[in-house]
Amino acid sequence: MAGFVCRVPSAAGRGRPAVWAVAQANVALVKYWGKAPGPGHQPATTSVSLTLDGLTSAARVEERRANRPDRVAWAPPGPVADLARFVGHARTQLGIARPLDVLVTSNFPVAAGLASSASAYAALTTALAALAVDPPSVDRLAALARHGSGSACRSMFGGFVQWRPGDDARAVTQLAAPEHWPLAVLVAVSGSGPKRVPSRDGMRRTQETSPFFDAWLATNAADLAAVREAVGSRDLRALGTAAERNALRMHATALGADPPLLYWEAATIAVVREVWRLREDGVPAYFTIDAGPQVKVLCNPGDSQRVGQALAGVPGVSHVLRSRPGGAPRVLREPPEWAFASCPPPAVGRGRA
Ligand code: DP6
Repeated sequence: MAGFVCRVPSAAGRGRPAVWAVAQANVALVKYWGKAPGPGHQPATTSVSLTLDGLTSAARVEERRANRPDRVAWAPPGPVADLARFVGHARTQLGIARPLDVLVTSNFPVAAGLASSASAYAALTTALAALAVDPPSVDRLAALARHGSGSACRSMFGGFVQWRPGDDARAVTQLAAPEHWPLAVLVAVSGSGPKRVPSRDGMRRTQETSPFFDAWLATNAADLAAVREAVGSRDLRALGTAAERNALRMHATALGADPPLLYWEAATIAVVREVWRLREDGVPAYFTIDAGPQVKVLCNPGDSQRVGQALAGVPGVSHVLRSRPGGAPRVLREPPEWAFASCPPPAVGRGRA
């Protein structure tokens, strides 16, 4: 997997040594697409995700001298204003008095158009918690990560994770550990097209303008029940059928927004058709699509070679990333080898990751 590395200016001399943490991206099998009122990205419905091994973000956090501002960077460029707001909120919640030097980065290429905000905020929350005098439970940390990006709370756990509306300790829970079901997840990367509308904006527009939004909300309970049942019984056909249906309904709802949201490119549809063709040939493979052109495909590990080759052969697919159920965030004593070694200085920029 392509690595991205960067050098952080040392903030030497000021307090405890720097802390690193890593967390993995997640793919939603039942989508979060709509918010409930309230602070910190409360969801309108319950979602279920799978944490993805190897699609990793890392955060580095170090205390600065007192009376300095926090210094935050996101490399390659991400939405730093949001990041700075989150760091301020998290410092208050965690009782971190000293200002901080913060950098987040990811090992999956930004050009892949994969949302890195979930893993980035999960890694950052984990690193910040390591600086807290009295680190909170993972449930409280998941609730905190949600203030950075809603889907980040699911990346605070490994395996299959459920996130339901509410602020109680059970709002985000692990349904099954990564070892429960060794699925293969392939990501067909396409996407040379125009930049997608960020999830946050697309979600808001859908909620405010799509006449199909209420129908989308009404389908949540059935999809949720089907996915939970399929995860429990490791039934790929049932899981895949429900996940595809849920993804298509999310996109149908978004298409109904005004102006419409079309996240797909020609390659997206070609991959969907290829997945259906594989199924006709007897290979159980199922897709899901988030707010971008990439298609994620679930299959049995024994079929992943064949499925990967088929996806790589679809016109417009530049490459295929391979993943599987991944674990929870971890604090590291030193930086992961792909990050923070040497590179262009951390770029500071806008635009959603
Ligand atoms: C399509 O978590 O990125 O990937 O809470 O506004 O930061 P904010 O949105 P975000 O939305 C993710 C949307 C999705 C579906 C999902 O992950 O459930």
